[in-house]
Amino acid sequence: MSVAESTCGTGPQPPGVPTAGALRLMVIDDEAVALRQMERMLRRRGYRVEGYADPREALARLEQSPADVVLTDLRMPQMSGMQLLRRIRARHPRTEVILITGYAAVNDAVEAVKAGAFYYIEKPVSPERLEAVIRRAAEKIALQDDNLRLREELARREPAREILGVSTAIRELVKVIHKVALIDCNVLIQGESGTGKELVARAIHAESQRKDKPFVGLNCGGFAEELVASELFGHERGSFTGADSRKPGLFEQARGGTVFLDEVGEMPLSAQVKLLRLIQERKIRRIGGQRPIALDFRLLSATNKNLEHEVEAGRFREDLFFRLKVVVIRVPPLRERRQDIPVLMNHFLEQYARLYRKPVQGFSAEARELLLGYAFPGNVRELEHIVCSAVALCETETIGLSDLPDDIRNLEVDTVSCNGLTTLEEVEKAHILRVLEGTNYSRRRAAEVLGIPRTTLWRKMRRYGIRDLR
Ligand SMILES: Nc1ncnc2c1ncn2[C@@H]1O[C@H](COP(=O)(O)OP(=O)(O)OP(=O)(O)O)[C@@H](O)[C@H]1O
Ligand SMILES: [Mg+2]
Repeated sequence: MSVAESTCGTGPQPPGVPTAGALRLMVIDDEAVALRQMERMLRRRGYRVEGYADPREALARLEQSPADVVLTDLRMPQMSGMQLLRRIRARHPRTEVILITGYAAVNDAVEAVKAGAFYYIEKPVSPERLEAVIRRAAEKIALQDDNLRLREELARREPAREILGVSTAIRELVKVIHKVALIDCNVLIQGESGTGKELVARAIHAESQRKDKPFVGLNCGGFAEELVASELFGHERGSFTGADSRKPGLFEQARGGTVFLDEVGEMPLSAQVKLLRLIQERKIRRIGGQRPIALDFRLLSATNKNLEHEVEAGRFREDLFFRLKVVVIRVPPLRERRQDIPVLMNHFLEQYARLYRKPVQGFSAEARELLLGYAFPGNVRELEHIVCSAVALCETETIGLSDLPDDIRNLEVDTVSCNGLTTLEEVEKAHILRVLEGTNYSRRRAAEVLGIPRTTLWRKMRRYGIRDLR
C-alpha cells in the first residue's frame, strides 16, 4: 500500500477486528504537550495507550510487552521516527507503525512507506481521521492473524488420506511410516512422479506427535530464485522489489508442525545454503530482517530426482543432502507393485462416482484387463486421472474400453511388456483383447490375425475371462 492509494474509512468491520479497548497503542512524541494531548484524545475514544517522550524508552518497553499500533512523531532529538520505524519493523513484525509529523514532505512519506510504515499523517490531525487510520491498521493485523489461523486450521482438519495397497512393497512402506512418524528426524522421500510421495509425507505428519500442528508444504520447483527464499524464510516489507508486505516464511508458519519441501532437488543453490544454516541453527532471519526467530519444526522433503547425481553434478549441496536424508523412504513405482492396481482402480472409481454423483459401479472385463496390463508411467496419479475421466465420460453403470483414453487403448503390446514388466500371460491377454477389439470381436478374423486356430482363441478367451462382445 502506498500513501496515495490508502483510503481511510471506518465502514463495517471484518469479523475478528479488535475493539478499541482491545487494541494496545503506543504514542511517541518528544513534545510533552502534544504527547499528552494525543494520549488524552485516544483514551477518550476507549484505546489503551502508553505514551513516551523518548523513542529509546518506547523500544525498551516493546521488548517486554508488544503493542498493536505505534504512533510516532517524525522529528525527535534522540532518534528519528524513521529510525524508530526501522527498528520496530525488524524486531516486532506484527506491530504497525503510523508516522505523524508537522513537516510534511512527499519524500519522507514515500521513504516511510517503503520502510514499512502503515501510514503517514500530517499534523494537525483530526481525531476522526486518526481513528480511521488506527482502525485500518487493526483490520490489517486481524486479517493477517486470521489468515494464519485459518491456514493452520485447514491443514489440521484435512483428513489424512489412507495409503491403499495390498502389495508387500506398500505394506512395508506403511510399516516404515509408523516407525519414522514417532521419531522427530528429517526424512527424504524418493520416488517417481505420482507415486504418492506427498501422501507419505502427510501420513508421517498425521501419525506424529506434531499432528495437531500445521503441515505446511512448498514445491521448490518453478519458482524464481529469490521467491523460493522468501517463501521459505519470509521477508520484511520493502526488502526487495515486489515485497510490498511483510510475510512470515514457511518455517515460521509451521509453528511446531511439519515442513514439507517438495521437489527439493529443484531448490536453487543460494536457498540451499540458507536452508542448511537454518537446519543447523533452528533459527531464522527474514530477508531484510535482523532479529533471529527461534523455530520448532520437523522437516520432510521429497524428490523424484536422483539427488546423488545432483550432488555429483554440483547442483545440490552434499552437506545439505546428508542433513535431509537422515532416513530415506523410497516409494516404489506402480509397475513394481501391480497387485495394488485393482485396489486403487476400485478406490478411485468409488471416489469419483460419489463426487460426480454418477451410478458407475465397475469396469467391464476388457477395460479392467487393459488397465491391469498398462504400464502407468505416471504411476498412481495417472491411474487416478484415467479413472476420473472414465467416470466422467461413462454413460452406463460400467466403464468400458470407449471410456478410456485413446492413447492407452491404442498401445502396442510391446510397450506394455517393456514398461510394464508384465508376465507373458498378461501380454497375451492384453494382445488378444486388442486384436478382438480391432476386428470388432470377429473370432474368425482375430484368430487369423493372431495366427492361431479358432478353437485355441476360444480357449484362451475362456481362460482369461474375455467376454464375447459381438
Ligand atoms: N497408495 C495410495 N493410496 C491411495 N491414493 C494414492 C496412493 N498413492 C498415491 N495416491 C494418490 O495419487 C495422487 C498422487 O499422489 P502424490 O501427490 O502423493 O504423488 P507424488 O509422488 O507427490 O507425485 P508428484 O511427484 O507428481 O508430486 C494423489 O491424489 C494421492 O492421493
Ligand atoms: Mg508431489
